[in-house]
Amino acid sequence: MLFIMMAPVKHSSDFLASRMREKTEIIHNQVEKRAFLQNLVKGKVSKELYCQYLVDLKHIYEGLEKKLEKNCLNKATGYFCIPTLYRTKRLEEDIKALGIKNLKPGDKAQEYCKYLENIEQDKSHLLVAHVYTRYLGDLFGGQLLCKKIDKMWKGVTAFYTFKVTSCSKFAREIRNILNTLPLSSIQQDEIVKEAYKAFEFADKMLASLE
Ligand code: HEM
Repeated sequence: MLFIMMAPVKHSSDFLASRMREKTEIIHNQVEKRAFLQNLVKGKVSKELYCQYLVDLKHIYEGLEKKLEKNCLNKATGYFCIPTLYRTKRLEEDIKALGIKNLKPGDKAQEYCKYLENIEQDKSHLLVAHVYTRYLGDLFGGQLLCKKIDKMWKGVTAFYTFKVTSCSKFAREIRNILNTLPLSSIQQDEIVKEAYKAFEFADKMLASLE
């Protein structure tokens, strides 16, 4: 009898980015329906509240990007130390353009930032989940919001602007990097769980704006 050894077939669902997408599909739908975002899509958010959202996001991105910079030599997170991705300066630009001063980051944004700050060195691969949740969110959903924001506050769209020829191509490149990171299967499992946590943080922050 002839036995043929079959090489294991890698299904797309085996890849890290697809696993994160599957794990967060339900919570993504929930987050997307948060009243703040729905009102933003309908153009029904005040300038003050939108500015508070940007201040919260700036605090979160600043925490994430500082942490990424500290881990630039890490074999996984190092791939994402790219200024093209970074959002802190762009958020600062938009906040300045809106002209509302003295807003402080809310409790939920502060909690998220503290959480990122406290990620231990030996768990720094977990940052990959926050990179996925935040930057891919901005490259997809964010692009839909951008047109709306531009109608409401002309030109206040630095946050949604990436210096690339195509956002969807850039997002695909990021997904490809995510799928080929040198990570153990235990680390990948941890990252998939962490992506859910990143969405929970986003959800709580959005709920605080309702
Ligand atoms: C108005 C709000 C939002 C809309 C309309 C929206 C819409 C979308 C759409 C259309 C995609 C592409 C899905 C696909 O290609 O299959 C996407 C992907 C994604 N969104 Fe959202 N989104 C919103 C808010 C958010 C928020 C608040 C987050 C996280 C904080 C988020 C995180 C993501 C992520 C991580 C992806 C990439 C999924 C993947 O390809 O693996 N989105 N979103």
